[in-house]
Amino acid sequence: MAGSVQQDRRARPGIVIARAVFPEVVERLAQHFDVLANQQDALWTPSQLAQALQGRAGLFCTASERVDADLLQACPALRICANMAVGFNNFDLDAMTARGVLGTNAPGVLTETTADFGFALLMATARRVCESEHYLRSGQWTRWRYDMFAGSDIHGATLGIIGMGRIGQAIARRGAFGFGMRVLYHNRTRLGPEVEAACGARYVERDALLAQSDHVMLVLPYSAQSHHTIGAAELARMKPTATLVNIARGGIVDDGALARALREGRIAAAGLDVFEGEPQVHPELLQVPNVVLTPHIASASVPTRRAMADLAADNLVAYLTGGTPVTPLNPIVLSRGAPA
Ligand code: DGY
Repeated sequence: MAGSVQQDRRARPGIVIARAVFPEVVERLAQHFDVLANQQDALWTPSQLAQALQGRAGLFCTASERVDADLLQACPALRICANMAVGFNNFDLDAMTARGVLGTNAPGVLTETTADFGFALLMATARRVCESEHYLRSGQWTRWRYDMFAGSDIHGATLGIIGMGRIGQAIARRGAFGFGMRVLYHNRTRLGPEVEAACGARYVERDALLAQSDHVMLVLPYSAQSHHTIGAAELARMKPTATLVNIARGGIVDDGALARALREGRIAAAGLDVFEGEPQVHPELLQVPNVVLTPHIASASVPTRRAMADLAADNLVAYLTGGTPVTPLNPIVLSRGAPA
């Protein structure tokens, strides 16, 4: 009997879990697969990742692991890469499709949590929460003053959202119906009138949004087309009293141009959860006081991170055991037949 168990184990597909994840999720995946799990959370180089993947069919990864043509060429047994993230700019999806490798992401489960955080960051930024907390902790508070850390209002202000997918819409609902804001949005595709009404949001061109908004929130996916959507020219169109919040991806904002605009008072403040080249942060951003910086945590509530991990695991289990993956990114791969 022991021999047949051994036999079964050898027959099971191998997968790699590239980063530390909930132990329960590792245990669940180990019921189906021969698992190599990086529970020490070592930061593997691309060649270490490729080495771990040798002979293995599945990759459970986060947005920090790059899946490109070089990795795919080095790992011919790979059949599926399941991202524990809704954003998938770490995937070269064309190269994956060309090699018949399925990509999956984790949409939906993080929408409300991420929208909550967008507001947390907006409010911390506009109301100068972090600057004032630092002031108090460092013993500088000796008396109340009428203008001490006076910021700008959220309620009744104009919120401009760039990127109106699920998360953008959830932010719009909070702004319009929770805070009584006038909500403008810009998106590649205009939403239908019912969806606009359900979000309390009005479509405008990007330059109009930048010029009219008191607070601009970025929620669009990163791509070559959205690289530096906000640079010096766009910052110059914003009100000098405006705040900018980026919870989308690093690279959508030109961080150097933003640091200069903040230093020179060309906009009032910024809240950033994502950075060009993260976890490195542009050194000038670290020097300006009117910016709130958080380490890519917009989806980081415990239940939501667990739901993201479960969805990535669902995709791996379904695809590698002959079922239908839940959230495929390149479903054309599915039409080519079951994985070997
Ligand atoms: C996402 O899901 O894309 C978040 O940014 C976490 O990577």
